[in-house]
Amino acid sequence: MTSVVDEYSVRPARPDDYEPIVAVVDEWWGRPMIRDLSRLFLDHFHTTSLVAATDELPLAGFLIGFPSPSDPETAYIHFVGVHPGMRRAGLARDLYERFFTTARFTGRTGVKAITSPDDTGSIAFHDALGFTVGDTVADYDGQGLDRVVLRRAL
Ligand SMILES: CC(C)(COP(=O)(O)OP(=O)(O)OC[C@H]1O[C@@H](n2cnc3c(N)ncnc32)[C@H](O)[C@@H]1OP(=O)(O)O)[C@@H](O)C(=O)NCCC(=O)NCCS
Repeated sequence: MTSVVDEYSVRPARPDDYEPIVAVVDEWWGRPMIRDLSRLFLDHFHTTSLVAATDELPLAGFLIGFPSPSDPETAYIHFVGVHPGMRRAGLARDLYERFFTTARFTGRTGVKAITSPDDTGSIAFHDALGFTVGDTVADYDGQGLDRVVLRRAL
């Protein structure tokens, strides 16, 4: 069966993807997210980040991730987002699996991500991809910003 998600392409991100990404993150997440997505992520980590596009949607989805410069065993995924019209059809899973392949190639044995304890969609997504969901860490990102650590072996 052919579905719309069979028709996307995936490429490495570029620095100039920053503007179209920040233009949609608040809408895609349903809350203010721009503060957590500085331009530096596209300027300095674009080669290991990914953008998916269709003929109709130049930004169908994206993943921002990188091998940790400080922990040689770990790759880190900072953001993943999929256009609301493209969800629940495997696009984010595909972006993650492509990222995992690259991360293994660079010798990484684990992948880490962080999310908010009340972001049930993100937690369910990561659980479905085999991540373990840690306990809530109070004030992880500063006062009042509790977070959950998500980890998966590669
Ligand atoms: C979370 C998000 C990236 C998932 O993208 P997606 O392309 O719809 O995810 P997939 O279709 O690849 O789903 C992969 C698995 O996760 C599960 N999943 C995805 N979103 C889910 C949700 N909201 N609730 C429960 N499970 C979910 C799917 O059922 C699937 O499991 P399966 O393969 O066992 O059936 C997307 O909903 C999104 O962009 N949300 C807003 C941004 C966000 O919260 N990003 C994550 C934090 S950075």
